[in-house]
Amino acid sequence: MDLVLTPARFVVAAALAALTAQACAAGNAAAGQDVFAEHCAECHSAKDGKHKKGPSLFATLGRPAASLPGFANYSAALKASGKTWTPDALDAYLTNPKTAVPGGTMKYDGLADAKARADLIAYLATLK
Ligand code: HEC
Repeated sequence: MDLVLTPARFVVAAALAALTAQACAAGNAAAGQDVFAEHCAECHSAKDGKHKKGPSLFATLGRPAASLPGFANYSAALKASGKTWTPDALDAYLTNPKTAVPGGTMKYDGLADAKARADLIAYLATLK
């Protein structure tokens, strides 16, 4: 097999590069770790069972809202929300906590940048 980049091979290589770029657009966990450090770590730990002003965000994906027995400060609103932290539910909550959970007590204005939210959610998905 020779290694000349024929036009056909170039097309395949370009398509693969485009797919890789798309996968990044769906959420880059390494970039999300930086978003977490900047926006969330003041109030949340990524460690299992370690609570700060907010509950630990270890293994959040797929978990019902307000379900950590070791965190005593959940709002009545979050407890009654009936939410499960799917990627979509998290995306809405992180876009605007106050409209996603009216009466909730997370003092965070929201992350407007959709790419930063996708990265952050990809990072949260690695915490398990
Ligand atoms: C100023 C402190 C603060 C900041 C900053 C903050 N949070 Fe929170 N967070 C809280 C508090 C307090 C709660 C509990 C809210 C309630 O009970 O209504 C909470 C709840 C949550 C929950 C629900 C957890 C559960 O067990 O149901 C998630 C998910 C969450 N925060 C994610 C984030 C992410 C991601 C960021 C960064 C973009 C962030 N928070 C920034 C304080 C904060």
